[in-house]
Amino acid sequence: MSGPTGHNGNYYSNIHISEGKHYLGNFYAQEKDARSALELLKPHINENVSYNSSEREQEGASICQPGTRERILTKIQKWTAGEGPPVLWLYGPAGAGKSTIAQTIAEQCDKGPKNLAFSYFFSRRNANQSDLTRFIPTFAYQLVLTVPSLDTSVREAVRSDPSIFARSLETQAQELIVKPLKAMTEQLPFMVVVIDGLDEYSEDDEKCPLEDLVFILIRVLTGLPFRIFFASRPERYIDAISKYQQHNVKIMEIPLSDWETSHDVFL
Ligand SMILES: Nc1ncnc2c1ncn2[C@@H]1O[C@H](COP(=O)(O)OP(=O)(O)O)[C@@H](O)[C@H]1O
Ligand SMILES: [Mg+2]
Repeated sequence: MSGPTGHNGNYYSNIHISEGKHYLGNFYAQEKDARSALELLKPHINENVSYNSSEREQEGASICQPGTRERILTKIQKWTAGEGPPVLWLYGPAGAGKSTIAQTIAEQCDKGPKNLAFSYFFSRRNANQSDLTRFIPTFAYQLVLTVPSLDTSVREAVRSDPSIFARSLETQAQELIVKPLKAMTEQLPFMVVVIDGLDEYSEDDEKCPLEDLVFILIRVLTGLPFRIFFASRPERYIDAISKYQQHNVKIMEIPLSDWETSHDVFL
């Protein structure tokens, strides 16, 4: 990077440049960086996980056929509108229809009230699916798409700590999501977060970073205007649930039986 010129066109000789700022003795001028939060976040996100990604389309992701799952969808729609506790966990065996319901809810929230904050569909086919370092930046990116007025504060968070993407999940969540939302003056309506396929996350380690992630999300986000929808196989749910119960987090549970055999679920 070359130094800027002064008004008279001469090069300043004692300039050093650090993280976008030009220091001139004890004077510095902010370098003009016109990049938006979306542009700053983009290299750090996973583009394949949102409900409307091209990868999901290629996987054949579908919404519920008309006339199916009507009762369960009505129940979840009431929940997305604010009824019941802020966390909903849909669980059932592989093939029971969880992802299809999650896809339906994500699409309805996005296309109807436009209150989908974030959707993340874990999939074994997704090459980056176990790269959780991209999870929070992906969340922040999608959130800014839904709430464009967050752009400035998210951009400042990245500029003030360009290493934010290498920080802990909790730090990233605080800096890229919680603080920008809390700094907003306008009151936001409830927004919906859809996280599907927690069981499809593959772990190389014995330790489960995914459980930490879920725990952070529940603990950090339930104080904000989010309603969080998780879908997974029951084992993952049972593994994780004991942690939250210690923290008095209320969760709406919806068990789902096999779609092929029961065709629909009546709750
Ligand atoms: N309500 C539904 N309408 C149409 N197809 C469905 C429905 N529920 C499930 N399916 C189909 O059944 C298969 C398994 O559903 P999926 O949602 O992937 O299950 P899970 O996520 O529980 O493993 C998919 O091919 C999906 O398209
Ligand atoms: Mg699934």
